[in-house]
Amino acid sequence: MIEIEHLIKRYPGPTGDITVLDDLELSVAKGESVAIVGPSGCGKTTLLNILGTLDTATSGSVSIAGQALDTMNDEDRIRFRNQSLGFVFQQHFLLPQCTVMENTIMPRLAGGWEESEEDTRSRATSLLEELGLKHRIDHMPYQLSGGERLRAAVARALVNRPSIVLADEPTGSLDPAMGEQVADLFASLNQEHGVTLVTVTHNEALADRMGTKYELNKGKLVSP
Ligand SMILES: Nc1ncnc2c1ncn2[C@@H]1O[C@H](COP(=O)(O)OP(=O)(O)O)[C@@H](O)[C@H]1O
Ligand SMILES: [Mg+2]
Repeated sequence: MIEIEHLIKRYPGPTGDITVLDDLELSVAKGESVAIVGPSGCGKTTLLNILGTLDTATSGSVSIAGQALDTMNDEDRIRFRNQSLGFVFQQHFLLPQCTVMENTIMPRLAGGWEESEEDTRSRATSLLEELGLKHRIDHMPYQLSGGERLRAAVARALVNRPSIVLADEPTGSLDPAMGEQVADLFASLNQEHGVTLVTVTHNEALADRMGTKYELNKGKLVSP
């Protein structure tokens, strides 16, 4: 599902380029779940952003579902992102002035949606119910707890029925007690929905629930 070969990512710095990802390799099978751990600043977000087509590699090849990302034009890339990927960001980025339902169906606005709004809403309702947010559908983000906000962000990530979900420290803003619940949620996403899952995390409970665990160390993924 995901094939990365010889990935190098450099950023320009005040005293020359810094190499964040250095000849990194990764292979993720369809339906696999992967946790990526590593200290702050080691390049985890950089790697997820490249996988999510939000950033580009300096060199090397990245392909997802058999498609090389660097051969896609902008239009292909946007369509691919909207149709095949789901993102869960650390800060969730729910729009504060929109309800949970409006936030969940927000990806429609990105374009490339062929189904009717009614159909998207009905799927969003099922997702929100499944995620325990039935009573929060018309609430605003500020009325939700941290865990509820995360679940709303997960519903938004799933509303396009993605084959791959990328999550960047999804438990980062939650208290430790929420860790187990989020780990359950992600494990069921993978096991019950067959979603290929790559999550960056500091949370041991979450990392341990994923099928494969890597540490990002000196720009490469290694078994911890
Ligand atoms: N746009 C950028 N320009 C320059 N340096 C960057 C940029 N984004 C990230 N970096 C640097 O790359 C390194 C890895 O960052 P990041 O991927 O955010 O790490 P992590 O998510 O593991 O904490 C850091 O040293 C960071 O300062
Ligand atoms: Mg990060």
